[in-house]
Amino acid sequence: MAVLVTGGTGFIGSHTVVELLNADEDVIVIDNFFNSKPGVINAVQDITGKGFGFYEGDAADKELLRKIFRENFIEEVIHFAGYKAVGESCEKPIMYYRNNIDTALAVLEVMEEFGCRRFVFSSSATVYGIPEKVPVTEEFPLSSINPYGSTKLMIENMCRELCRADERWSIALLRYFNPIGAHESGKIGEDPNGIPNNLMPIILKVASGKSPNLSVFGNDYPTPDGTCIRDYIHVVDLAKGHLAAIDSVRNKKGAVPYNLGTGKGYSVLEIINAFEKVNGVKVPYVIAGRRAGDAAKCYSDPSKANKELKWKAEKGIEQMCRDAWNFVKNR
Ligand code: UFG
Repeated sequence: MAVLVTGGTGFIGSHTVVELLNADEDVIVIDNFFNSKPGVINAVQDITGKGFGFYEGDAADKELLRKIFRENFIEEVIHFAGYKAVGESCEKPIMYYRNNIDTALAVLEVMEEFGCRRFVFSSSATVYGIPEKVPVTEEFPLSSINPYGSTKLMIENMCRELCRADERWSIALLRYFNPIGAHESGKIGEDPNGIPNNLMPIILKVASGKSPNLSVFGNDYPTPDGTCIRDYIHVVDLAKGHLAAIDSVRNKKGAVPYNLGTGKGYSVLEIINAFEKVNGVKVPYVIAGRRAGDAAKCYSDPSKANKELKWKAEKGIEQMCRDAWNFVKNR
């Protein structure tokens, strides 16, 4: 009996594989290294002292998925595989729809063929669009403000409709807030191919001198220091949320959304200050104009996940900054 993890060598995927192996689950990974590196496989094995099955390929390839299901007894699937850059999705919307929707459909179809109906989906707080107030609960209205967000919302809808049509399905829709940090070993972390556009990867580039400064997108928001507030969550806490979700889909039917966040918000300047303080490095920044589509404040109410999944984020902002930097220094 094994858990299949699509996109299992990516940032959140690799940390989740570590937690699954630590919990003695059998794990099979499929990944095409589109946004990750093969070295992650050895790194995960080093950290856990355990092995796992690996198939190189595209999770939209139904023949490959069928081979995996034939060769292994897959009971649950955690689906990470997909494109995730908001800006790129606005430039190449069709590419995003084609890839993210095709991949999810292929995985769900092959699961159905093999009678596997427990699914954990890597969704995002982006499905709340620009929330009108904070903290954000799972009951907030859903909308999308870019093609990336639309694909997350469409896949959530597919899952809801699937569960309505067939009550044998169990699906957890995990809505991540802002995952940052890295494994404390420094062996795995966020290592995107191409140019980063999220805050922490850019801070890391600036701190290591690969980029002269960080542009802070707007300091005239209605927040205490004028910069945007987000709910940053340590990737290891987030990974543990997937373990809790696996337990949940083993016991509960239907498509259930959960916010995975800390419930605390930090501004861009607070993140820069925390990073400089715990790591003793400078992160030069300039104040730039607002970035289109940014909400002033976005943080979660994680109480549903706390209660129903018996999961709670435990690591604070200092540890997130320390572990993120440690990963970069280690490389
Ligand atoms: N920011 C800067 N300068 C930068 C990059 C980011 O000031 O160079 C600011 C942004 O304006 C924002 C904050 O840092 O206020 C965080 O920005 P990110 O791009 O890291 O993250 P977002 O909150 O915009 O988006 C994240 C994920 C999305 C997901 C969304 C859900 O990247 O995938 O959260 O809420 F959809």
